[in-house]
Amino acid sequence: MSEGAVKKEEKPRKFQAIRGTRDLLPPETALWNHVEQTAHAVFGTFGFGEIRSPIFEWTELFARSIGSNTDVVSKEMYVLGLQHDNPTGLDLAHRRETLMFMSVPSSDKSGIDIFTMQTRKFCSDYDAALGKELVYADVGTKVALKYLKDSISYLVDDLLEQTRAGDWQERFDRTVALCKQYLDLVEPTIALRPESTASVCRAYIEHGMQQLPQPVKLYYMGPMFRRERPQKGRYRQFYQIGAEVLGGGDAPAIDAEVIEMVMTFFDRLELQGVQLDINSIGDGNCRPKYVELLRAELLKVKDKLGPDSQRRIETNPLRVLDSKVKEEQSIIEKLPRIADHLCEECAAHYAAVKHQLEMRGVIYRENWRLVRGLDYYMRTTFEITAQGLGSQNAVCGGGRYDGLVELLGGPPTKGIGFAIGEDRLILSLQESGKAPAQQGRDVYIAWMGERAHATAIRAAKDLRKAGFSVELPPVEQKFGKALGQADKLGAKYALILGDNEVSEGLWTLKTLADGTQKKLSEPELIKELRKTR
Ligand code: HAM
Repeated sequence: MSEGAVKKEEKPRKFQAIRGTRDLLPPETALWNHVEQTAHAVFGTFGFGEIRSPIFEWTELFARSIGSNTDVVSKEMYVLGLQHDNPTGLDLAHRRETLMFMSVPSSDKSGIDIFTMQTRKFCSDYDAALGKELVYADVGTKVALKYLKDSISYLVDDLLEQTRAGDWQERFDRTVALCKQYLDLVEPTIALRPESTASVCRAYIEHGMQQLPQPVKLYYMGPMFRRERPQKGRYRQFYQIGAEVLGGGDAPAIDAEVIEMVMTFFDRLELQGVQLDINSIGDGNCRPKYVELLRAELLKVKDKLGPDSQRRIETNPLRVLDSKVKEEQSIIEKLPRIADHLCEECAAHYAAVKHQLEMRGVIYRENWRLVRGLDYYMRTTFEITAQGLGSQNAVCGGGRYDGLVELLGGPPTKGIGFAIGEDRLILSLQESGKAPAQQGRDVYIAWMGERAHATAIRAAKDLRKAGFSVELPPVEQKFGKALGQADKLGAKYALILGDNEVSEGLWTLKTLADGTQKKLSEPELIKELRKTR
């Protein structure tokens, strides 16, 4: 039996969408389109332009932006080219980057030693990791690794003989450049994007957008990927609609306008039970002191906390404030609050943001426990919840991230933005019955006979050109069956084309709701349909 053939008694495997992913189908996709079109329209009125960035980026981009210790990066990212959850792989990727960008002038003896030693160690560690299947390598990577080892040996040998060879410096530079080229080919890892703020900042830098009039206002929509435990409102491939404002200072009015925009969008969609929570988490000046104070206070009550919170006292005490564990709530309520520990500038900024929100009529609730799970935030943070979502009720999260562009090698740039969980937004709209009804077909063309078929094809073309949605059955059907089909599809009209109609030049238009019929000439048909739109 040939390979791939299925034995008679074996049933072919039925595939299902991978856990945490799903198909979005009609009629639901009509609601998705409605939501997305509303976003284009509303964000456009605030002067935002759309950016479409790639779905995967260098892992390093996310690790640096979101933070290597965050759940999103350390546990949930889909990393390609390396096994997931793998510190060896991440370490190798990092070391490779360092070597690639290391400056190695021929006059710097100790610099050369560091470069050659570290590259050799990189190669042997990479080999060891390959042996343990901790890293992935395609043929290109393996070849590059071999050439890299050869080039380093050549470099070292050549250096030993440098006194004898006159043109060694030139050769040295060439060999270092070659080593870097091979390093480039040792495939670094890429990751499916878990969010888009990092990509937008990367694009801002890459395209020199600081030269444009500031601030640059961008929005995006599309799939994101996080390996979370799937449940209602939480998926592994989910969709975000987000916006970012980059550059142009950190005036509190920018924060307020971004929030106003997302609230306007929700209002336009008639999203129900919208609740906006805001907070300020300070900046590099005041937050570290607050975090230390919080840690000290948490250590005093450590025994009363659960294992997650106990761990977070060390890794990220702010996240303890996020805890939903029932027994911890009364303890958390007594902890010091960041609002009382903001530096003067942050306190003034926060007060001004609140004032600006009030000027715009945006209703908010202050929530000192709102900290957010990504490292890049500072000062303003916010979250929006909506009804009908159960425990995964955050439909939007955002905040200010002033240092991020600089952290990624760009110029000092202020930034603020948000991302809406589109899946949750849709769920909430559906639960509250705010989803617009799916539009059925306008016209079902019931035709019989060869001549009628030709006429039906022409009629379908003309009606579609005029913007009507038309169903043209591909094979002849008895009129009774055709009308039944038209009913099932929710068509408003049936256009009946039989031999009589075609030879008379008068077509029958049947209104399916009441069964009334009219005879119309070809030019009258479109006019008649337009009347009832
Ligand atoms: P985030 O809070 O990680 O922030 O995600 C924003 C929103 O995406 C959440 O409030 C939620 O509605 C949705 N979301 C997140 N994970 C899932 C999931 N697994 N399934 C379904 N929905 C999910 C960010 O991503 C930041 N980049 C937001 C931002 C933009 N901050 C500044 N600019």
